[in-house]
Amino acid sequence: MCGIIGYVGKQRAVNILLEGLKRVEYRGYDSSGIAVLEKGQLAVVKKTGRVEALAKIAAPRKFRATTGIGHTRWATHGGVTDANAHPHLSSDGKFALIHNGVIENYVGMKRFLIEKGFTFQSETDTEALVNLIAYHFQKEPANGDRSRFLESVRKALLHVEGTYGIAVLCTDFPSEIVAARKGSPLILGVGDGEHIVASDVSALISRTQNVVYLNDGEVVHITEKGFSLSTIQDQEEVAPKFDRVSWKIEDAELGAFAHFMEKEIFEQPVALENTMRGRFSDDGSTAKFGGLNLTAGDLRQIDRLVFCACGTAWHSCLVAEQLIERYARIPVEVEYASEFRYRNAPLDKNTLVFVVTQSGETLDTLEALREAKRKGYKVMAVVNVVGSTIAREADGGIYQHAGPEVGVASTKAFTSQLIVGAMLALYLGRLRDMSYTDGVEYVKALKHIPELIKQALAQAPHIKAIAKRYAHHRDFLFLGRQSMFPIALEGALKLKEISYIHAEGYPAAEMKHGPIALISPECPTVFFAPAGEMYPKLLSSIQEIKARNGKVIVITTTGSEIPDGLADERIDLPACHDAVLPLVATIPVQLLSYYIAAELGRDVDKPRNLAKSVTVE
Ligand code: G6P
Repeated sequence: MCGIIGYVGKQRAVNILLEGLKRVEYRGYDSSGIAVLEKGQLAVVKKTGRVEALAKIAAPRKFRATTGIGHTRWATHGGVTDANAHPHLSSDGKFALIHNGVIENYVGMKRFLIEKGFTFQSETDTEALVNLIAYHFQKEPANGDRSRFLESVRKALLHVEGTYGIAVLCTDFPSEIVAARKGSPLILGVGDGEHIVASDVSALISRTQNVVYLNDGEVVHITEKGFSLSTIQDQEEVAPKFDRVSWKIEDAELGAFAHFMEKEIFEQPVALENTMRGRFSDDGSTAKFGGLNLTAGDLRQIDRLVFCACGTAWHSCLVAEQLIERYARIPVEVEYASEFRYRNAPLDKNTLVFVVTQSGETLDTLEALREAKRKGYKVMAVVNVVGSTIAREADGGIYQHAGPEVGVASTKAFTSQLIVGAMLALYLGRLRDMSYTDGVEYVKALKHIPELIKQALAQAPHIKAIAKRYAHHRDFLFLGRQSMFPIALEGALKLKEISYIHAEGYPAAEMKHGPIALISPECPTVFFAPAGEMYPKLLSSIQEIKARNGKVIVITTTGSEIPDGLADERIDLPACHDAVLPLVATIPVQLLSYYIAAELGRDVDKPRNLAKSVTVE
């Protein structure tokens, strides 16, 4: 939530800030703003709406400043207004601050500061912090000490309860930024004669691939000469650990596509190939994962797995549960990370915890990881964003390597998580009862996935035509059984996220216990009916819908017979191994929701009220 960026260098800061803000806009897009140090004074431009609206009013001001900060907001405290947009200034005009996170104790802080004579212009929690920094600055000895800026920020942060990724400017130190993090991501990019701090690599990748990921509780002080890293609590110097970002700016460009979501749907054959690359054993009968940091012996001891995640990633865990239980015979529980972190779940000593997250920054997932670690459990992470907080805090894990995902609605990251789950089921299965021959067959099926996805994508024109016919409906049901149930949930989520159409996912046989009351010509059903042993039962459920005049879009396997009159629309999936069916079946519902949202003229990549990375509770 909220994207932040700060720049210290030799170029005009505004251009770099605006470009960076456009790249982190997926993190929040209610309003945005910048502050630069222009001729010793802080100049602030902020505006509700998208970064584009900010650029229109900021660019003509032709600021020459080479130091500045920028923010794109997902509102938490205070409505979406120009006044509540960041940056916020201290009432003495000395400091400007941008903030990603929530200051939980801001009310008491604000009361204290008002008593001390500070004034407030906004309803935000952030404004309390910038004034607290100014308060400490006034108390610091004015002896020209260059650390006075850093110390004031540090002292203020010691009083903060909550989470933050912040960057601060001070008029007395015109070419400097102090930035710090606790619970919200912050990355330092070290370029040629310039430094950039940002909440996401994508904001700085066009300037440099050399980065330092800040840890929680660290503060960085950037000056013209370089930077220094230290701990907020104890002022201990920290040696920076440099990393190199493996992807380039072109990977996050739209190219010929209308939306990132469309691009990312069509990228899936390549993204999934990348997830699997180098992860099969030489004998072609199992998977291998370099980052798990657990021996085969350790894994054989595991008698229970707990998966924690949020949103789409949670759906991927439901699929992993089915595959692992079926192929590895290990009991699996899937938890919402937001519930797990508070419900004090009993875990036993042979339980292994997995957290699954595209961004690696979702706060609830991060806290679930910390809670499990606090109890002494090993926590593995399945993460797409390299170097993210969860990737760094986990005991081991599996990178998805799906490439940057920009569209708020997750697509390629989801199918990539499905692949990881399917590979884990294989790997754990082969450590137990799965035979060599079954393993070889399973590996072959996985290797065939990119081709199967291409075949599913080839139906895009057909699905687009269906989308046009159904876009006017206000309610949808998505039904499926077994491994198709999580895909029904995901299909419903995709549709509601980006088109604002109400949609519910249900296990198909549960329909008769409630959702059947919704069936009418106005509420179409997307029904997963792949060939297999459940097929006759699935057809019976479709009959029940048709008997109530419901329209049905049937997603089935090529060649399967559907009795006349049951399918109003039919979408075919190529025949495939059970372990890869959920992946293949995801493609039509991604396309359907994308084309419906596009047909309705929705802002597909930045749907209202959502943010891609939710770093608040
Ligand atoms: C947000 C996004 C969802 C995403 C969820 C979990 O709610 O809008 O699309 O599935 O966060 O994100 P993560 O990065 O942890 O996978």
